[in-house]
Amino acid sequence: MATSWNGLSFIFSKESYMTLILILAVTILWLLWSVSSYFRYRNRLPVPPGNLGFPFIGQTVEFLLANGTTDGIRLWMQNKISKHGPIFKWRFLGYTMVMMDQPEGNKFVLQNEGTSNHIFWPFQICTLLGPESLLIQSGERHKLARLHINRFFDHTAISRYLHGVNLQAIRHFADHWQGKEQLVALDVINLYTLSIICNLLMSLEDGPLMDKFLAEFDIFTKGAFCLPINLPGFQYNKALKARKSLLEMLDGLLEQRRREIAEARVPEASQIDILQKWLTVPDEEGNLLPDSFIKDNLILLLLAGFDTSSRTLAMTIYYIARNPHVYEEIIQEHKSILEEKRTSGKDDRELTTEDICAMKYTWRVLQETLRLQPVLLGGHRKTVRDLEYKGYYIPEGWVLSWNNRDSNYSPKYFKDPLNFDPSRWEERSPPFTYLPFGGGSHICLGYEFAKTAMCTFIHHLVRSYSWSLVNPNYDGPFIRDPIARTLDKTSIIVKQL
Ligand code: HEM
Repeated sequence: MATSWNGLSFIFSKESYMTLILILAVTILWLLWSVSSYFRYRNRLPVPPGNLGFPFIGQTVEFLLANGTTDGIRLWMQNKISKHGPIFKWRFLGYTMVMMDQPEGNKFVLQNEGTSNHIFWPFQICTLLGPESLLIQSGERHKLARLHINRFFDHTAISRYLHGVNLQAIRHFADHWQGKEQLVALDVINLYTLSIICNLLMSLEDGPLMDKFLAEFDIFTKGAFCLPINLPGFQYNKALKARKSLLEMLDGLLEQRRREIAEARVPEASQIDILQKWLTVPDEEGNLLPDSFIKDNLILLLLAGFDTSSRTLAMTIYYIARNPHVYEEIIQEHKSILEEKRTSGKDDRELTTEDICAMKYTWRVLQETLRLQPVLLGGHRKTVRDLEYKGYYIPEGWVLSWNNRDSNYSPKYFKDPLNFDPSRWEERSPPFTYLPFGGGSHICLGYEFAKTAMCTFIHHLVRSYSWSLVNPNYDGPFIRDPIARTLDKTSIIVKQL
């Protein structure tokens, strides 16, 4: 009884009134905040217009079908925009997506990365890439992972690789172009870009192992952009098997390299590759990277590093062949680079970073190819809190898409947008209208490496060969599987000069 009287005395005590007042104040504040956000967002602001379709599946199938060609996706976008306006919602594999307008929407998404949104990839891509892959990390984990990789791709590192890239280009043309009258350009360029990236990462030369990598990657990439049905016979199931096989190959390589390190007999060429550094150089805290990080990021770099550049090069060769004035101008640029080297007594088979910088027109041609046939049509970020954008309420957990699809083809930003005109790159495009290498904290890490490898390739091509298209009148459709290519993979007739 005494206890309950004591309890009663607490109920009427000064402390209890204070506690009650505090609880009441917090509750009122919470209620006010909830009511205000309810009115601020739900009553006053609508969510973006659009059709979510059936639960889970939404517009997944129609989008994947449209995604098969460049024009398909452009028409899909135009159709949605004409129905709902430039900002619209739709549903993909259970995710509620918001297609943002350009350029403001692109800016809104990419500049707020890390604060109101973070990277998003559908789960099948995350599974295929692996949990340690840089591409799917966010926040501090992403910063740290990017640090481990970026030091091999900055300007100084790239200038160290240039000699090797140049030698590989020379060897590539001798092995795969010399004496040929007709070629499927994309198939042979794949060998060049894959050998360059394999060499940089792990000193892997042309041969059966490289062929196996190429074959597995083909299956792997196709499976990343299709319906994630993990049943025998389906593309996604095949891609999962390809990942397993890639991991086994990498396990073998890591084991072999560790043996060589232990026996102090690492071949000279491998001393400078990225794998060697990851296996031997500790981070600031004295730790070596775990195998899971090494393997997931080798897969990412192989994937990001070869198909992207080979597709861009094959499309560039196509566009050059179709535009004689572009062809003439690019020949002149490389002639004058060679003449300058010869008159100043330099070795004209070597290339320096200054030579790459002098390839201004070549870079404009590549930029123009990437405008008409961007490697990625856009990217996605998931909101981490409720947002307000241009009068719309976008709830936490929705996926925002920045994109290259619409602005690249818009006459508002690019005069005669369907025209292949490299000279337009004498000036910059308006901010956030053209994002071939992405933006924000996930901006392409291999940008400079890709530029160097592609310019080096074009230099050797133009100085030693002339080419024309097997199908000169072909003007589309451009297949996306998942990156753009012509139907015949740029089949060309070649002549050695
Ligand atoms: C024509 C060539 C290339 C194009 C057009 C391209 C395009 C892109 C784009 C658009 C992204 C951003 C994805 C996003 O924000 O969601 C990206 C990211 C990335 N790229 Fe590239 N890329 C190219 C070549 C390369 C090469 C040669 C490498 C490496 C050897 C590379 C490595 C990467 C990596 C590691 C990322 C992820 C960066 C991160 O998540 O922090 N790329 N690339």
